[in-house]
Amino acid sequence: MRGDNPENQSGRPGANVTWQKTRVGKAERSRSLAQWPMIIWLTGLSGAGKSTIASRLEQEIQAAGKHTYLLDGDNLRHGLNRDLGFTLEDRVENIRRVAEVAQVMVDAGLIVIAALISPLRSQREMARSLVPEGEFFEIFIDAPLKVCESRDPKGLYARARKGELPDFTGIDSPYEEPLKPDLRVDTEHLSVDKAVKEILDFLRRNAPRQDHPPQPAGERKQKRNDKFMISCTARSGSSMLSTLLNSHPRVLCHGEILAAPHESAGPYHELRRQGTDIDEWLRGYRQEHPEAYLYDVCFNLAGHQSVGFKLKLEESLAEAYKPFRELLAADTDIKIIHLQRRNILDKYVSLQMTKQSGVFSIRSSSQRPKLSPFAIDIPDFIAYVREDRQRYETAFELFKDHPCLHVTYEELCESRSAALEKVLDFLELPQADLATMMVKVIRKNTDLVLNLDEVHEALAAEGNGGYGWI
Ligand code: ADX
Repeated sequence: MRGDNPENQSGRPGANVTWQKTRVGKAERSRSLAQWPMIIWLTGLSGAGKSTIASRLEQEIQAAGKHTYLLDGDNLRHGLNRDLGFTLEDRVENIRRVAEVAQVMVDAGLIVIAALISPLRSQREMARSLVPEGEFFEIFIDAPLKVCESRDPKGLYARARKGELPDFTGIDSPYEEPLKPDLRVDTEHLSVDKAVKEILDFLRRNAPRQDHPPQPAGERKQKRNDKFMISCTARSGSSMLSTLLNSHPRVLCHGEILAAPHESAGPYHELRRQGTDIDEWLRGYRQEHPEAYLYDVCFNLAGHQSVGFKLKLEESLAEAYKPFRELLAADTDIKIIHLQRRNILDKYVSLQMTKQSGVFSIRSSSQRPKLSPFAIDIPDFIAYVREDRQRYETAFELFKDHPCLHVTYEELCESRSAALEKVLDFLELPQADLATMMVKVIRKNTDLVLNLDEVHEALAAEGNGGYGWI
């Protein structure tokens, strides 16, 4: 990949040429254009429909308010590439120049459509390699040779057959079909309208980032007071708190940002609701670019005044999420809401019941699952009590330099408005009436425990007899 970073230089600069770092980079430029740049590379035989489709495609993308540039093989051969013919050697140089120009345009923040025969796989792979993964889409404009020949819009096939045009693609010069194009469009059977629609649908599914232009890395470091995180454990009421916060018109609160499937609110949820398959992309992005995922996706305000998410300590402390933990710990602007449940027995019973019923939350009492009373396994319970305490202590230490607020599940249940007032003040947000559709899954947890006396005795021995060490 080529870019602002000299380490990414795959080129062959002369020995005496050094890369000059610029102050404005691709991210800044794309941000001003409010779009993610990319290359949409159309390949196929002459007469397959590349130029027609490319031109219509550009029109549609422009109409959506995006900034584009169409690099059409025929047109470029009138200027930039006027010195080149059609030997394989010349075609390699032709594609090299166009790919370089496309890369520069992507660096400028544009959505580039390239329409060239580009007959060799190696040429197309070279073009792909110039930009980061996910910013190049190879689209095979596919029509059989005999169909292209019968169309012969420029009369070139006829001339080639007569021997007047040497090295004509498909006749006496090779065309290597893409083995795994990002998309194949069958123009033998599809109308131009349908072909363009197929490409647009494909891009909508695979280039979702158009909704969120990249955030320059430098800006990520700028001081912000609008990010928060609910740090909690399972069954401590975090879904209740996040749905309450989401009902505030100025707040965006994501769900499980590290879970699979990813659970984010706001624009991503909306895209998913419309049937866009973005989860896989989000997971890949999270894996490959944790910092960009955290800031461009999870902490992207998307028009809100405050943005955050809930994160269970079971996940944030797990080894697999170390990069995230480190990013979160390093950014002391993030406001941490430590959400705890004082009644550890209730929390444990609630957890066991999700395992028994598979039900995590309900919206009305009629959805309450039927639960069977059970005897608590004392060693398992005590191990849980210790681990839970350990997790919170680790979190307090991890975020000791962050602005922190401690809230309990019990406070949220007993005097919701007072607890929420505290939370909104902490987030520097105007007070508002917040609401949630969620209701408690279990009315009285201890009714479900068969060996309550034994449990109380074990808790007392732990020094936790009255519950709550908070
Ligand atoms: S490429 O092979 O180097 O990618 P490019 O897309 O730039 O080709 O140019 C192809 C166009 O040049 C065709 O659409 C056709 O109009 C014209 N052309 C003229 N001679 C040839 C030829 N020998 N082979 C293919 N296309 C040719």
